[in-house]
Amino acid sequence: MKPDPVIEALLSTLAADPGNHPVRVHVARLLLDAGSPADALTHATTVLAAEPDNLAALRVAAAAAGATGDAAKAASYGRLADALAPEPATPEPPAAALAAGVPDTADEILQQWQTSPAAAEPEIGALGAAGITLEDVGGLAEVKKRLNLSFLAPLRNPELRVRFGKSLRGGLLLWGPPGCGKTLIARALAGELGASFYEIGLSDVLDMWIGSSERNLRGIFDTARRNRPCLLFFDEMDALGQKRSNLRAGGVSMRGVVNQMLAELDGASTDNEGVFVLAASNHPWDIDSALLRPGRFDRTILVPPPDLAAREAILRFHLRGRPTERLNLAKIAKATEGMSGADLGLLCEQGTETAMDASMTTGQFQPITQQHLEEAARSVRPSIGEWLEVARNYALYGNDAGAYDELAAYLKKRRR
Ligand SMILES: Nc1ncnc2c1ncn2[C@@H]1O[C@H](COP(=O)(O)OP(=O)(O)OP(=O)(O)O)[C@@H](O)[C@H]1O
Ligand SMILES: [Mg+2]
Repeated sequence: MKPDPVIEALLSTLAADPGNHPVRVHVARLLLDAGSPADALTHATTVLAAEPDNLAALRVAAAAAGATGDAAKAASYGRLADALAPEPATPEPPAAALAAGVPDTADEILQQWQTSPAAAEPEIGALGAAGITLEDVGGLAEVKKRLNLSFLAPLRNPELRVRFGKSLRGGLLLWGPPGCGKTLIARALAGELGASFYEIGLSDVLDMWIGSSERNLRGIFDTARRNRPCLLFFDEMDALGQKRSNLRAGGVSMRGVVNQMLAELDGASTDNEGVFVLAASNHPWDIDSALLRPGRFDRTILVPPPDLAAREAILRFHLRGRPTERLNLAKIAKATEGMSGADLGLLCEQGTETAMDASMTTGQFQPITQQHLEEAARSVRPSIGEWLEVARNYALYGNDAGAYDELAAYLKKRRR
């Protein structure tokens, strides 16, 4: 093979910076194209040794192994890559565009343009269809019952709402340990209401807010209003906490954000009909208490550590699209009492790593087995204890307003 100047240059880059995986994958691809599959394979496997789930490297390794005539190796790299590749997105054209057909006149084009979803594209956060309902949430029967009673039923039955004088002002706060379904439930509620789902990760946008909080927060609520019915979901609500604010940006600017949030929630100057506001937090005790007063996020729902059915659903979620043998997830769910959703995610990660390691060392594709997961279940340490400890203190000593009644009830049930 003639020395290729591009490859030469990249190789000298790699000599100086051997950990540069993107460049190494690129070199591997160029070598493969240049007819040196063995060299390509060496570079690809070097990357895979450090990053077993590097999809691009797996693809090059598969092609390179195939080109060197090692079909078995090629197939196992290929299967690993397929298992890792994100499910292909199937973008569905919006129903309105389908119904409207192809425009013939300038007026029609203008009209479609004005009503096209792109016009409502938010600058901050993610807006989309919910796509799921509460049925997709595993277990948590008690939580679903409460959501129905305190949120869905009154919304679905305006007459009843008036009779009982139940105001729809204010929002609902979902709280509980990490990874246990708060975001999932928020999305499911949007699905139940047939509303679009507009999600804002507060800690992500907070820095953008400093100094221009008023405009940005108003913009978020305006986007929600333009897209009603819309469920506006503020994740990581504790980022709007007094304590965090002192650390991060100084109380003053955070006050501005909190005040603007209050103004938007109270909706004095605006019409919030058809905009449902939800928030979630792992640490509700960090939330500025002004936000939790009546008329604001005054209804709170504890999303507790997952029960048996929820744990099985969470395990299934984290393993979806991954190659597994026939699994008895119920058995693993039974053995993981006291783990949070985040812990179960970690468990699945570890099981997957074990299977990938086995595949790499044997050169033979190994799916994730029951045993891999059971081993992982034994090695993952439930993290919920610490969370419960903190929460328990608030339930015991900070429960003046009854905000932690649900937790107290949960703890009591747990002790039995
Ligand atoms: N009860 C459940 N049924 C089915 N899947 C669940 C359930 N709880 C959690 N999951 C799955 O686990 C993943 C993590 O849950 P989710 O993101 O909703 O947790 P969270 O409480 O919002 O966590 P965090 O506090 O980290 O934001 C979700 O993608 C979801 O699919
Ligand atoms: Mg979440």
